[in-house]
Amino acid sequence: MSQKLVYVCEGGDCTERGSGDLFEKMRELLLARDPEEAQVRVRRYPCFGGCEVAINVTVYPDKIFYSQVTPEDLPEIVENLLGDAAPVERLTGAVQPDVEEMVWMLLDSPY
Ligand code: FES
Repeated sequence: MSQKLVYVCEGGDCTERGSGDLFEKMRELLLARDPEEAQVRVRRYPCFGGCEVAINVTVYPDKIFYSQVTPEDLPEIVENLLGDAAPVERLTGAVQPDVEEMVWMLLDSPY
């Protein structure tokens, strides 16, 4: 299995809605099951440009764009990342498609 990257937005709107705490909680849940970060690493991201549907979290290279994420959603997201659960559909599709496309282009490009 290839390693996944989870990005939690730390832009202004996402931070206002609690993305700092969300990042810490996500990190805690992932490290509890994957202490070496062999399967998943979590990182902060400056701003995805989908601020109106904060808090945004993306999964790469799976290209899953979660919006309006709350701490209560994290166990399900983690189950998709480390277990065999499907992506959490109800949290996807809220961001503008062109914004999502731009994010994947940026993440795809080597920098
Ligand atoms: S502040 Fe999170 S998408 Fe812009």
